Amino acid sequence: MLANCATKTLQYVRGSVRAIATSAMQRSDNLFVHRDTPEDNPDIPFEFTPENKKRVEAILSIYPEGHKRGAMIPLLDLAQRQYGWLPISAMHKVAEILDLPNMRVYEVATFYTMFMRKPTGKYHVQVCTTTPCWLRGSDEILETCKKTLNIGVGETTKDMKFTISEVECLGACVNAPMVAINDDYYEDLTAKDMQAILADCKADRVSPPGPRNGRFASEPKGEPTSLSEEPKGPGFGIQPGL
Ligand code: FES
Repeated sequence: MLANCATKTLQYVRGSVRAIATSAMQRSDNLFVHRDTPEDNPDIPFEFTPENKKRVEAILSIYPEGHKRGAMIPLLDLAQRQYGWLPISAMHKVAEILDLPNMRVYEVATFYTMFMRKPTGKYHVQVCTTTPCWLRGSDEILETCKKTLNIGVGETTKDMKFTISEVECLGACVNAPMVAINDDYYEDLTAKDMQAILADCKADRVSPPGPRNGRFASEPKGEPTSLSEEPKGPGFGIQPGL
């Protein structure tokens, strides 16, 4: 009797619980585990170039003795800039320099999506699809990238020139929709602008970064609509008795 009652209660609870998410689950296109591949395995040697070795020294000198591990992200970033992406041997090199177990470096490299742990194109096209960019047409921008380059999100063109990633807010919402290509931001985009930018990249021409709608930065488009008069000065609006 008691068991019967418990089963019925369980069935009721299960029946009344429903998923509250209404959109399909999205997964990051980044890998969170390492699998040895011919192009990424610990037997492939990694060494910083002589120029970058000087940079390593300069970065390490910023951090006091006992806190050198604070240099981990700058060193991983330097390794990625040198190699084009971040192979496991580069992580091992950073661990060796900082005198840390490899695992401490894996934890950081797998947490931050800015670290690309698989071969990445020369132009890493990162399309922001978070709400402000989405409201301003990021779907169209992403579609334009996919169609123009003939690859999907997380994929790289065969000539290793382009990789497309879908990313969360890059902090330029006031210039939505926007795309980051390597270190440059392209803002206030239309599909036509995106095609022109990709054509420039294909031809290895420098496409001018920044807004594409005539704005200099993130000022209002057109005349200012507020704070347009002279400031009132100190004491404005205070009761005469004070
Ligand atoms: S939402 Fe795209 S930059 Fe913030």
